[in-house]
Amino acid sequence: MRSTILILILVVVIALVGSAMATPPGKTVEYEGGWAGKVIYDGTIHGTEKGMKCPDCHPAIFPMKKAPPGTYKMADMIAGKNCGVCHNGTKAFSSKSFADCAKCHKQAEEKK
Ligand code: HEC
Ligand code: HEC
Ligand code: HEC
Repeated sequence: MRSTILILILVVVIALVGSAMATPPGKTVEYEGGWAGKVIYDGTIHGTEKGMKCPDCHPAIFPMKKAPPGTYKMADMIAGKNCGVCHNGTKAFSSKSFADCAKCHKQAEEKK
């Protein structure tokens, strides 16, 4: 019982620390993603694995500070803004292909 509480506290602490971190390699940013499910932007994949540099995204595409929930909309993405600057089917997988929604949106049962 006591260890269950300790584990719960640990989980909360890790979640709080994680949400205060930035997107350089090793860091992630999470979005609620509406009914389509949670989206995780991963700084390791974008930076270390795909070799993108900070100025590829900052400050032209994204502020270096997490914007309020709901700032980024699918309609804007499909129009080639925010994530859609690259996720347009040319530089990276598309934001409007139904085959690719799940590459960004994770439903609860398939959370990593
Ligand atoms: C492929 C695009 C991309 C690259 C490259 C990138 N970032 Fe980010 N960064 C983002 C996105 C997306 C966010 C979240 C913005 C939002 O939600 O408003 C973000 C947010 C941040 C934040 C704020 C995090 C927070 O939780 O408040 C910092 C700090 C940051 N980035 C620093 C960096 C640094 C330093 C680099 C280079 C090592 C870098 N980023 C490279 C896309 C990128
Ligand atoms: C490149 C990653 C990416 C892809 C691909 C993607 N989305 Fe999103 N989606 C996001 C992000 C980021 C948000 C903003 C979430 C937030 O702020 O809560 C979002 C938001 C949403 C929302 C919330 C309401 C809105 O309009 O913004 C819905 C619904 C949604 N996406 C559906 C879809 C569907 C359906 C597809 C496939 C056709 C799709 N998404 C493909 C990243 C993606
Ligand atoms: C500067 C270009 C750029 C921007 C902006 C960008 N991405 Fe990406 N992203 C990429 C590239 C390149 C890949 C590699 C996949 C590919 O080639 O299709 C990738 C891969 C991904 C993946 C797949 C990770 C995996 O499991 O392999 C996700 C999820 C993702 N991006 C989400 C996002 C979200 C969400 C945003 C906006 C908040 C975003 N990206 C903005 C270029 C970008």
